[in-house]
Amino acid sequence: MATQDLVVRIGGEGGEGIISCGEILSKAVVRGGLNIHAFRTFPAEMRGGLAMFQLRASDGEARSLKQSVDILCAVNHIAYHTYVQNIKSDGVLLYDPAVVNLDDRLGSRRRIEMPLEAISTEVTGSTRAKNMVAVGVLLNAFGTPVEYGTELIREFFGRKGDEIVNKNIGAIQAGYKFAAANLHDIQKPFQRQPDRDQILVTGNEAVALGAIAAKVDFVPGYPITPATPVFEFLCRELPKYGGHAVQFEDEIATLAAGIGASFAGKRVLTATSGPGLSLMSETLNLASMTECPITIVNVMRGGPSTGLPTKTEQSDLKFAIYGTSGESPRCIMAALGIYDCFWQTIRAVRIAEKYQLPVILLTDQALAYTSQNIPTPDLTGVELGERLVPQPGTPREGFRRYEVTDTGISAMPIPGIHDLPYMSTGLEHNETGAPNYTPANHELMTDKRFRKLKTLGRRVVQQAKVEEFEPEEAEVGVIGWGSTYGAIAESLDMIEEDTGLRVAHLHPRILSPLNEWRIRQFLGPLRKLIVPEENYTGQYAHFLKAKFGIKPIEIHKAHGVPFTAEELYAAIKEEL
Ligand code: COA
Repeated sequence: MATQDLVVRIGGEGGEGIISCGEILSKAVVRGGLNIHAFRTFPAEMRGGLAMFQLRASDGEARSLKQSVDILCAVNHIAYHTYVQNIKSDGVLLYDPAVVNLDDRLGSRRRIEMPLEAISTEVTGSTRAKNMVAVGVLLNAFGTPVEYGTELIREFFGRKGDEIVNKNIGAIQAGYKFAAANLHDIQKPFQRQPDRDQILVTGNEAVALGAIAAKVDFVPGYPITPATPVFEFLCRELPKYGGHAVQFEDEIATLAAGIGASFAGKRVLTATSGPGLSLMSETLNLASMTECPITIVNVMRGGPSTGLPTKTEQSDLKFAIYGTSGESPRCIMAALGIYDCFWQTIRAVRIAEKYQLPVILLTDQALAYTSQNIPTPDLTGVELGERLVPQPGTPREGFRRYEVTDTGISAMPIPGIHDLPYMSTGLEHNETGAPNYTPANHELMTDKRFRKLKTLGRRVVQQAKVEEFEPEEAEVGVIGWGSTYGAIAESLDMIEEDTGLRVAHLHPRILSPLNEWRIRQFLGPLRKLIVPEENYTGQYAHFLKAKFGIKPIEIHKAHGVPFTAEELYAAIKEEL
């Protein structure tokens, strides 16, 4: 049986509770047995501007943001004005006539008056709970029992007191009743799968859970949008597992504290965003030079400078790979979805520990604030990765912390645990760790540090799981990275359905060191390569051009919101 989708976009003013409305709705709909992809975007101000929440629910897969919506719920006029053209021709506008003035852009699309403010005032005495009236209306549209929504009110507003809780429950019930009387015909006949072993998380929460699963001991942090929720989550939860999360005065101190803890044998992770990564850059070199394992999750946002702090962009890739003075080896990874944020965090910590270098895991605002229901992860048999430490009984005499080995990896003694010399300095040093600036030594030690990347390339990258789809007959291929995975995969399905043409798709998770062998193999039969990216300059395409001397067709988007499958479908189809 074909799967069903229902896409609802709710827009209103920041401060009106659009995000709470979307979050309560999302939780209730997942509880009701549907799969969701829920995206939000809002301005950098605490109040005012346009806040938007889009909930896509499906009885199949809900992989990406949709451009066209079945229902636009306009809580204020700006939301109507901004999104009216995204309503499908057979879609519906739900609007409050007290605040929205319709115009001819609505065309012949169906419209239903939804007096949110009047209902809220009647039931609660003020318009504050109008967002919860909207929750009630939309629960009805999803065919989700009203109790699933009212049960969540205490979780969301309990800290504000019983009176507010009760008023909001009343508002949801009133909205539900209104919809039952006026909108019953917009419900979809979903196939539901309740009682699943699933959790509903955002990308940021998945990263934080991944850090706990990876047995991270120490999380130094400095708040920065959109990475702050990772730190907040770990401040709350990590101590329950014996770890510590500590706020420092800025990102430079954060990473320095992280290197100190790593030097002392702790597993360390921190989360930041572009401007924070800039501040960390010199300290990152220290981690490379001293060969201290550390994982930095960089949640990308629109830049440069303060830029678009609450919007998405894939624009820190070049900085992550090349943003270094001197030549300091590091591994750059990117998570491609919400579930993947969990697993790639574990993997990033594992690589950092095993190869004794900094790993930067790139996510972005779109992943950070998108929620999806994911299977409860099963950690059975998952390798967490141990650091190479000296064998018991290793003699002090002649011990070389930075011994040149075939793999580039040398045993790292932990102060206070191993009774061995543990000299560590940002100066160029010899195998014992003592400063040494001779040309031969600099070359030897640079080669030793970079040899770890070669080893990583051989051992990990070649077997690394890349998400791939490579039909034999494909002449056109797409290479993507990071959060664009869902939209690319869905757009290629749409192309196949529409034209019968199958387009190959490769989506590496380890971006540097590059899996050259696999990419060459993928490029082999292709006539055209397309590289879509959410940035202005085509950063990954440049990287591929430099490595392989190819000329991909680049599709760029730097709007602060993610690609939709429909946009990519149109852009890729044109190239076919
Ligand atoms: N009854 C009572 N309280 C309600 C309510 C209701 N029916 N509906 C919402 N609220 C409360 C929420 O609990 C929240 O309260 P809090 O501020 O005490 O947490 C508040 O109203 C805002 O509602 P919420 O749904 O969380 O958000 P919103 O849709 O109104 O949008 C944001 C507000 C998210 C845009 C804004 O708070 C924000 O975070 N802006 C971005 C800030 C930022 O990161 N800037 C970057 C700096 S570099």
